Amino acid sequence: MKYHIKTFGCQMNVCDSDWLAQALYIRGWEPAAEEEADAILVNTCSVREKPEQKVYSQLGRLKRSNPGAVVGVGGCVAQQVGERFWERFPHVRLVFGPDAVPSVPESLERLAADPGLRISLLDFCGSYPERERVWSLTQQPAQRFVTIMQGCDNFCAYCIVPFTRGRQRSRDSSEVLRECQELVGSGVREITLLGQNVNSYGRDRGEEEIGFADLLERVCSIPGLMRVRFTTSHPKDLDGEVIDAFARLEALCPALHLPLQAGSDRILQRMGRKYTRQGYFRLVEELRAARPDIVLSTDLMVGFPSETEEDFQQTLDAMQRSGFDSSFSFKYSDRPGTRAANMPDKVGEAVKADRLERLQALQEELTARSLGSLQGETVTVLVEGADSRNNGSPASWRGREPGGRVVNFSGTDNRDLTGSLVPVRVREVKKHSVYGEVVNEPW
Ligand code: SAH
Ligand code: SF4
Ligand code: F3S
Repeated sequence: MKYHIKTFGCQMNVCDSDWLAQALYIRGWEPAAEEEADAILVNTCSVREKPEQKVYSQLGRLKRSNPGAVVGVGGCVAQQVGERFWERFPHVRLVFGPDAVPSVPESLERLAADPGLRISLLDFCGSYPERERVWSLTQQPAQRFVTIMQGCDNFCAYCIVPFTRGRQRSRDSSEVLRECQELVGSGVREITLLGQNVNSYGRDRGEEEIGFADLLERVCSIPGLMRVRFTTSHPKDLDGEVIDAFARLEALCPALHLPLQAGSDRILQRMGRKYTRQGYFRLVEELRAARPDIVLSTDLMVGFPSETEEDFQQTLDAMQRSGFDSSFSFKYSDRPGTRAANMPDKVGEAVKADRLERLQALQEELTARSLGSLQGETVTVLVEGADSRNNGSPASWRGREPGGRVVNFSGTDNRDLTGSLVPVRVREVKKHSVYGEVVNEPW
């Protein structure tokens, strides 16, 4: 049997799809192109309207490109739309929400055996839904994600995630540590701990579970693990212990994604974010004091209901003051069932587009400054693979420095450097990455 997986959305979905691919593989399934697959899984995102629409157009297209395949829709749109998928897309035979990922491989086998069957898996679990351990059985890349929690309790006014991923449920720290140890044992050198709000890890479990700073410390002390990252952090829950971890833990990379969303206190309050711009600046200061080389990235939104030009100027100002090395930025989009969808004073499309353009222009300046600071420096790069623009030629490689910025470089010989840590001197700064050369032999 052959499978094909399409993935939209955040790293949580990427991580879920990776698990599905490996779980199917160890059950004897082979990966295949869309047209040749017996089963196609579409892992969806509904955080904004655009990615949701993409799902519908993909499903329409799949019906034509491979009419015989078992089609399964998973992820956040599946959780939101549920069995209504059957009506609009009769060729869809499986819908599964994020909590149901562990039972998908078995469901696909049942569907393949029984052409009359349809399965929907949309229930939320009371605790973190553990999965069969598949990682230790296959060769691993140098970098992996490890999920430490599911769901979110914050209900920011614009956000659909708490509805699609359910309440926050922290995974057992012993399971997290075991998975990390197994991954390191099979060759992984960098781990990113994943959750919608990792800084509140453990709080849903009270005394029974450790907090995030403790978890970080334990993961960072796994022998052989060179780099640890985590995402996403909510500013309201980033505490002194975690900031301190940046100063103390050697394996913890000097990089933090800390979504600001907006720079105006009035908008932050209407968003329900529970911090102020000054509070955010204080965090940035403390982080830079703990780790002067920290690379900061963020998420920003323009055109939240009632946002004025003045509010928006405060976002630009906050970007300057925080000095973000990079950011993801979005136009506010109404999501069904959220508080913001019912707020008056919606901002027009043209105004949103104009603000986004100005925001991104400023970000480009800030990014150029960040990348420019690497010019002439020697950085340690964890090699992810051959630089694809080089047509797979082994002489050119792509990886990341500790701050997470992309470094392309040429090697000294034709050895496969994937997974190695290599010292690279930066020669040239490009728009979204830098280019350099290996300084010595890899160590
Ligand atoms: N848990 C993460 C982010 C989840 S969604 C956090 O709290 O930071 C990723 C990003 O999508 C958000 O940070 C936000 O900037 C954006 N986003 C969420 N809902 C949105 C909406 N309705 N319209 C536009 N952007 C949205
Ligand atoms: Fe959405 Fe807010 Fe939860 Fe992030 S913290 S997932 S933005 S509700
Ligand atoms: Fe999208 Fe769901 Fe992630 S809505 S951003 S896939 S949590």
